[in-house]
Amino acid sequence: MSEQATLAEILTVEHRAIDEGIEKFVAASPAGSVQEWAAPLVGSMEALRRHIYLEEELVFPQLRNGPLMMPIMVMLNEHGQMWRQMAALDERLADADVDQEPKRGEAVAACQAMLELLADHNGKEEPIIYPHLDADMDDDSQAFLRDFLADGTTPDGWECERAVAA
Ligand SMILES: [Fe+2]
Ligand SMILES: [Fe+2]
Repeated sequence: MSEQATLAEILTVEHRAIDEGIEKFVAASPAGSVQEWAAPLVGSMEALRRHIYLEEELVFPQLRNGPLMMPIMVMLNEHGQMWRQMAALDERLADADVDQEPKRGEAVAACQAMLELLADHNGKEEPIIYPHLDADMDDDSQAFLRDFLADGTTPDGWECERAVAA
């Protein structure tokens, strides 16, 4: 039997893949259509929304009634910030002039701010929360999460718990 990746490993790989799509957009010069140019960013935002969904709905409820309650509150606040940053980026991308200065530079700066927030968030989530995925979630919840990771999608209209700023 080949060795199965841990849930912590799988979610950490998702963090890196999401960063990479945003970094690719930041580094690219706008060639071709906005759709082509922005595709890596759009793909990362879709992946990040799904990632936030699975953490908030499939992971945190399993772990939040113990010593992780406070760290999970911090994670939820930061997910809310990301959610609002993504909504603002969607608006920027919908602007017909987004591939021209100064709007392109503004979109890139917004992406850099999101990369900083992600680095700060993931830098806490990976060492503090993720070791508990494989250690403390019950078997059924782990199996459900693995199934979702394989082919699950964010339900239409779902919003993270703190999508609206307090
Ligand atoms: Fe998170
Ligand atoms: Fe995460």
